[in-house]
Order: sequence, then C-alpha cells, then structure tokens
Amino acid sequence: MYVMRHLAFYSIAAMLVLTGCTTQGNKKPLTEAESRQYAESGKLIVKTTFEVLSGHLSQALARGGVSEAVTYCNLRAYPLVDSLSGEYNARIKRATIWVRNADNKADADEEMVLKEYAALKSGQKPMKPIVRRKDNGDVAFYMPIQITTPLCLNCHGDVGTDITAADYNIIKKLYPNDNATGHSMEDLRGIWSITFFEKQPIGKEF
Ligand code: HEC
Repeated sequence: MYVMRHLAFYSIAAMLVLTGCTTQGNKKPLTEAESRQYAESGKLIVKTTFEVLSGHLSQALARGGVSEAVTYCNLRAYPLVDSLSGEYNARIKRATIWVRNADNKADADEEMVLKEYAALKSGQKPMKPIVRRKDNGDVAFYMPIQITTPLCLNCHGDVGTDITAADYNIIKKLYPNDNATGHSMEDLRGIWSITFFEKQPIGKEF
C-alpha cells in the first residue's frame, strides 16, 4: 500500500513536470512552411514601417531640417506601428548596440544576431532575414538595418560634416548619451527585431 501510494505520487509529479514543459511554450522547431510564413509577415511589416518612416523623415527634413525631423525616427511616432503590432500580435522593435535611445538597446539574442550579421558583412556575404523560435515559444524575425540612403547621414553620419554642429546640439539635447553618429553609407546600423507572440499578451487574454 505504502509503495503504491509512493508510486502514484511520483507518477503524478512526473506528469506535472511533463505537462509543465509542454504548456511552457511550443519549442518545436519551425517547419519550412512556418518559417516562410513568418519571414513573409516579417518582411511585410518591415517594408511597410520603413516606407512610412523614411517618407515622413524626408518630408520633415525638407520642411524644416533636423529640428523638424528629429522626432520622426522613432517608431512611437507612427500609429501604423501600433496597428501592425495588433494585427500580427507582434512587437516591432529596432535594436542596436550603437544606441541613440536606450529603449532600442539590443538584448542578448539581438546582440548575437547583430554579431552574426556583422561577421557576414565583413566576409561580404549576404545578410539574409532570420526566423528563429525563441525558448519561450515566441518566434523572432530579424533583418539588418543599413544606412542605405544619404538621408540617414543627416542624423547618423559624422558630426561637423554630415551633421552640422547646430543640428547635433538639437540631437544631443534630446539624447545626451547618443552613440549613433559616425556612420557611413552601407554601415550596419542595427536590426529590425519582430517578435511574434505565441500567446496573446497579458491583458488581451480571455
Ligand atoms: C532627422 C534625424 C534622423 C534621420 C534623418 C534618421 N534618424 Fe535614425 N534616429 C534619429 C533619432 C532622433 C533616433 C532616436 C529615436 C528614438 O527615440 O527611438 C534615431 C534612432 C534610430 C534607430 C534606433 C536605434 C537607436 O540608436 O536608438 C535606428 C536603427 C535608426 N535611427 C536608423 C536610421 C536610418 C537607417 C535612417 C535613414 C533611413 C535614419 N535613422 C535617419 C534621428 C534620425
């Protein structure tokens, strides 16, 4: 009797551990079809966001220079980013290690991806989009952000040449710890980091 109870206890404990593992997150590797689907959504989110962002940036620069445009390189300036996040149940972020806004600092996973892209770039290999299942079951999509247009140099190039001292004062006032200048064309500036949540975020559960 004692042994039986003991056995029953251990098997229930084992079951709890096992189900605990499966409910903790879907860690199954992505199938090829799933990866393709996430890559497509990721690329669409990035393309849509980037087009709106660079359109507003160039209009604002033309309208009133850096002082006018300085708030338009922030994803929070765009309601579109919120609606895409809701539509895809995703978090849309740009991450870098050369940060202007500390909110955009790369986490450990993103830093690893940045290093992978940097190595590919220095080996002159293509920096392709990456789709990866995270430990918690979410799916991450990454794409490099490069300085692809001289437009970016107005605020991320060399101070004194690309960026006038007066304009840099405006940036410095808003971002005293800025570390996002000195870039040249084609530089790796950071990454797009899109997290597709496996579960509804807290608060949206029913
Ligand atoms: C008018 C100035 C301006 C221009 C032009 C500009 N940026 Fe920015 N950029 C900023 C500011 C200001 C921030 C900080 C935004 C924030 O608070 O999130 C920033 C942030 C970023 C970030 C997020 C990482 C960080 O350092 O905070 C990336 C990536 C970035 N810019 C890339 C670009 C690229 C690529 C271009 C060209 C398409 C560009 N920027 C053009 C001013 C500019």
